[in-house]
Amino acid sequence: MKYKPEELTKLPRSVQFREGKVVLIDQLLLPREFKTVALETVDEVARAIKTLQVRGAPAIGAAAAYGLALLAETSKAKNKDEFFDEFYRAYEVLKNTRPTAVNLFWALNRVKKVVEEHREDSLESIKRLIVSEAHKIADEDVDANLKMGHYGAEILDEGNVLTHCNAGSLATVHLGTVGAVLRVMHKEGKLKLLWVDETRPVLQGARLSAWEYHYDGIRLKLISDNMAGFVMQQGKVDYIIVGADRVVANGDFANKIGTYSLAVLAKEHGIPFFVVAPTSTIDMSLKSGKEIPIEERPKEEVLTCGGCRIAPDVDVYNPAFDVTPHKYLTGIITEKGVVYPPFERNLKRLFRS
Ligand code: MRU
Repeated sequence: MKYKPEELTKLPRSVQFREGKVVLIDQLLLPREFKTVALETVDEVARAIKTLQVRGAPAIGAAAAYGLALLAETSKAKNKDEFFDEFYRAYEVLKNTRPTAVNLFWALNRVKKVVEEHREDSLESIKRLIVSEAHKIADEDVDANLKMGHYGAEILDEGNVLTHCNAGSLATVHLGTVGAVLRVMHKEGKLKLLWVDETRPVLQGARLSAWEYHYDGIRLKLISDNMAGFVMQQGKVDYIIVGADRVVANGDFANKIGTYSLAVLAKEHGIPFFVVAPTSTIDMSLKSGKEIPIEERPKEEVLTCGGCRIAPDVDVYNPAFDVTPHKYLTGIITEKGVVYPPFERNLKRLFRS
């Protein structure tokens, strides 16, 4: 790889495990305060995932895996049976936090598999294996992002990019998926301007993407979501690049609500539309996007903005994600290379390789 992570961002890792604690950049405080929080129990990690203190598919996966590592390092279980009871309870608590991003289940199942394959080992050795698997998940995420950053920047020409939500460093362990592509493009002078959608209802674009890309010196303009179509019509967008919470076997994918509208608009304006997602985000067990469970979040997220009430107390529909059919997609940038249509065939090939 041409660049190392520290040459691409000034940010530290968003999710870490230190001295038996899960240490996160607190995404609820940004952009007002840039602070970390150290979580000491599995329930605190689960709450952090539910409340979006940590969010973004790969970051959620890593945080959950570190939640199990936290259990391994702090458990007072007297024997293996007691520990297994605690382990499966923690696994369930973490699993039941958010339903859409498949990285959560992928990471938890990776750790569970290691435990089940070593059931006969000593308790101390099982605990060590859990911690080491969680570190592997985090390190592999950084490595995947670095690769995707280089692949993406290789296939994209100089131009203006529009992104939605936050698929940056904050949404992963480090660098981001989209974030890595943007950072390599920026390093090479290929990113002329970044358009950032504010991303209602909870403003991951305005609060998080605008903050982290500005922090790294990337030239950007923030727009409200309803401006994206006009900006495209004015010829000011060369590429749209987004992350994903779950890509399925035919290339359909779930991402932050609003992504589908952007994809339809991109097609109308002939703008290439890319997803950047590691293979940990690809769920080959689902055939089409219709099968992806879509999280619905509390109505307060829509009724308020930045803590202020902006609407009367009416009924609200608040799906956190939408599904974009693969026909709108130009390509999927993964750590194993770029996948182009036909997605069903080429995703299968990617997993066979
Ligand atoms: O609800 P969020 O903030 O967790 O949603 C995040 C997204 O939709 C991201 O685009 C996605 O997880 C990809 S992160 C690399």
